[in-house]
Amino acid sequence: MVFQTGCVTVKNITVLGSGVMGHGIAQVSATAGYNVVLRDIKQEFLDKAMEKIKWSLDKMVTKEKISKEEGDAIYSRITPIVDLSEAVKDAEMIIEVVPEIMDLKKQVYAELDKVAKPEVVFASNTSTLPITEIANTTSRPEKFIGIHFFNPPQLMKLVEIIPGEKTSQEITDMTQEFVKSVNKQAVLCRKDVPGFIINRLFIPMVHEACYLKDRTNATLEEIDSAVKFKLGFPMGIFELADFTGMDVIHKATVEMHLRDKKVINPHSTVEKMFDEKKLGQKSGEGYYKYSDDKYERVELSEDLAQKCNPIQLVANILNNAAWLISNGASDIEEIEKACKLGLGLRKPLFETAKEIGIKNIVEELNKLAKEHGEFYKPDPLLESMI
Ligand SMILES: NC(=O)c1ccc[n+]([C@@H]2O[C@H](COP(=O)([O-])OP(=O)(O)OC[C@H]3O[C@@H](n4cnc5c(N)ncnc54)[C@H](O)[C@@H]3O)[C@@H](O)[C@H]2O)c1
Repeated sequence: MVFQTGCVTVKNITVLGSGVMGHGIAQVSATAGYNVVLRDIKQEFLDKAMEKIKWSLDKMVTKEKISKEEGDAIYSRITPIVDLSEAVKDAEMIIEVVPEIMDLKKQVYAELDKVAKPEVVFASNTSTLPITEIANTTSRPEKFIGIHFFNPPQLMKLVEIIPGEKTSQEITDMTQEFVKSVNKQAVLCRKDVPGFIINRLFIPMVHEACYLKDRTNATLEEIDSAVKFKLGFPMGIFELADFTGMDVIHKATVEMHLRDKKVINPHSTVEKMFDEKKLGQKSGEGYYKYSDDKYERVELSEDLAQKCNPIQLVANILNNAAWLISNGASDIEEIEKACKLGLGLRKPLFETAKEIGIKNIVEELNKLAKEHGEFYKPDPLLESMI
């Protein structure tokens, strides 16, 4: 695979970091036909990642989604390399997928900047860290961009693209073309705002669901049933949190709250569960208990949904959506696309809002602001939509 936009040609990709996301992004890129180098700090990490890729490709062969020859060809397009200079020497684009720790990312980019050719594009898969701040530590902020794949990259269609303040239009266009070329759908987050689009909507909602539980005494299952059957989520919000992992949610919470107090009203439960290693499905216990590490569904029903009014949750997610629009980071169409592909929403967010009534939602936010503080103040856009 080769693609060209403007004067950028991409056929060789280096993926830095072979963990949960990195090995998936490498597989997806190789499946599209790119030559991929997968780089990690230890050979044993790379061996494990290559094993996982092999397993995933074999599964696709068994399911007859690809032929055995295709599987072998995809696998052979991925070269695991530990040495950094060697790993990036042919790359036109480097996708960085190292752990979500600002100091580590900056250190990685400092090393990378020295060894990668000046024309190479740097794309970070960060979920919550500021793109502009990382970009400005490199010699090429205009060639630096956020490319946020979702977990698991092999299955999730959505990729958020986040240009930093200095990212050139050419690189933004090129990244959109790249995302298309790997058979994904891009949503552009036009501003480098905390949480980008999906995490800005999803992570605060987990905290709000904890508050809803405290304030109404509804059970986990009642809230989750309401989220699933009344709001059109594919599963309950606590289920989704357990599936995502409390480590991911806690980390995202800390980063987002650090940069913007208005985006999230942290509930102590999230940090407590993280400290107690109740990480969700992966640890056997989160909001719910799981008997093994396979994906298990909780019993939710329309009857249980009738016992919970989720207006507080709708008010929260809609207020954050309105903030994204008011601040020029997105628009309704892009938000709906992101919610459908990234959160699996079966019903558009603003349709749910219309059913409930924007006026009722604004009233709810004003009531919450009175009782629980300014955090809940409705975005002016919502008020203007009444
Ligand atoms: N896990 C998720 O659900 C998810 C979803 C979307 C985005 N992300 C983002 O993706 C990034 C990686 O997350 P992850 O869950 O894959 O982490 P992970 O811990 O599973 O993998 C990170 C990998 O990077 C390697 N690494 C560390 N330093 C390195 C270096 N200098 N060069 C190359 N590799 C190095 C580690 O050894 C490890 O294998 C983070 O920025 C995270 O926010 C994660």
